[in-house]
Amino acid sequence: MTDAFIPKNIIVTGGCGFIGSNFVHYVVNNHPDVHVTVLDALTYAGNLENIKPLLGDQVEFVHGNICDAQLLDELVPGHDAIVHYAAESHNDNSIADPEPFLKTNVEGTFRLIEAARKYDVRFHHVSTDEVYGDLALDDPAKFTEETPYHPSSPYSSTKASSDLLVRAWFRTYGLRMTISNCSNNYGPYQHVEKFIPRQITNIIEGIRPKLYGDGLNVRDWIHTEDHSSAVWTILTQGRLGETYLIGANGERNNLTVLKDILRVMGQPEDAFDWVKDRPGHDRRYAIDATKLRTELGWKPTHTDFESGLRATVQWYVDNPQWWEPVKAATEAKYKAQGQ
Ligand code: NAD
Ligand code: DAU
Repeated sequence: MTDAFIPKNIIVTGGCGFIGSNFVHYVVNNHPDVHVTVLDALTYAGNLENIKPLLGDQVEFVHGNICDAQLLDELVPGHDAIVHYAAESHNDNSIADPEPFLKTNVEGTFRLIEAARKYDVRFHHVSTDEVYGDLALDDPAKFTEETPYHPSSPYSSTKASSDLLVRAWFRTYGLRMTISNCSNNYGPYQHVEKFIPRQITNIIEGIRPKLYGDGLNVRDWIHTEDHSSAVWTILTQGRLGETYLIGANGERNNLTVLKDILRVMGQPEDAFDWVKDRPGHDRRYAIDATKLRTELGWKPTHTDFESGLRATVQWYVDNPQWWEPVKAATEAKYKAQGQ
């Protein structure tokens, strides 16, 4: 293990989104001596409410775009690390309109690593397991850090592109960087366009949940708080230039997850609609996190999916003011796509 990096003043891009805001909560709860500057453009996926109670001496908010080089010239000096979450993150949106994904995920990452290089700031790049493509249902293999890149969707190909840029900046310019590729997150503050919150809020509103294709696609679920602790571990203890996969052995197919949600919410397990499949729909993701566990000693704490799911359902029940304003428009978009 290399010497620990002790950050004092970090920039968190995308800190008003689902996973970024959970990371800001994690830092406030666990590292009160670290100052956080959240940089977020507040797109449809960003919500300042996610971090509003934290704003003050420890957490500052800057409304801006990661593609804005001039803003980065003003903001980055004086910080000691950038933790980069900002992205266009939804596969279905990337299929309907890929252009914003190129802009934010590729150009935005390029602007950030240029600023990190210029001001010699450490960079942690938050990425996804989708860069590896998919696995067959009956394949005993899982993704490792050695798996070749093979992305399927416009979203995952832009994330793969951004990973490659970050790696090249390490090799060519010596950018002090680490990368993590995580599996599917669940937990509070996730936009209702995503699978689990969509179905929970559908049931609350009396709309039947919607399952794509044959429902047998497998995702490897991890609680977002475990993702945050893993990113913190990699930021502070990871070896420069290295990639670490993050996962918590949470493989489940979509049909099983949907039946879990229906049961937890007191509904019959067949009370949902089958809808048309996502084009290019990845079959299965599965993470082997051995490197992160053995080299850095990280382990997840939310190992009981059902209790994490119950808490997540309760969060959406308790916070309708958070999701109701965007629910109708999200469902209208899905309806237009036949989903
Ligand atoms: P999200 O869509 O909920 O949030 C994205 C945030 O980025 C929003 O606050 C948005 O306003 C902000 N943003 C978007 N474009 C911006 C721009 N140009 N400039 C500044 N801010 C901008 O996304 P998420 O699900 O929280 O994902 C966060 C990161 O984690 C992404 O990089 C994603 O690829 C990665 N990731 C997500 C998952 C998952 O399960 N959701 C799993 C692995 C990795
Ligand atoms: O694996 C990590 C990735 O996980 C992240 O990189 C992405 O940012 C994140 O959005 C997520 O991607 P997925 O495409 O796996 O997540 P999504 O919530 O969109 O869908 C999960 C599964 O559920 C997928 O197989 C499609 C299916 N699905 C989705 C929706 C919205 C349905 O069956 N019905 C639905 O209504």
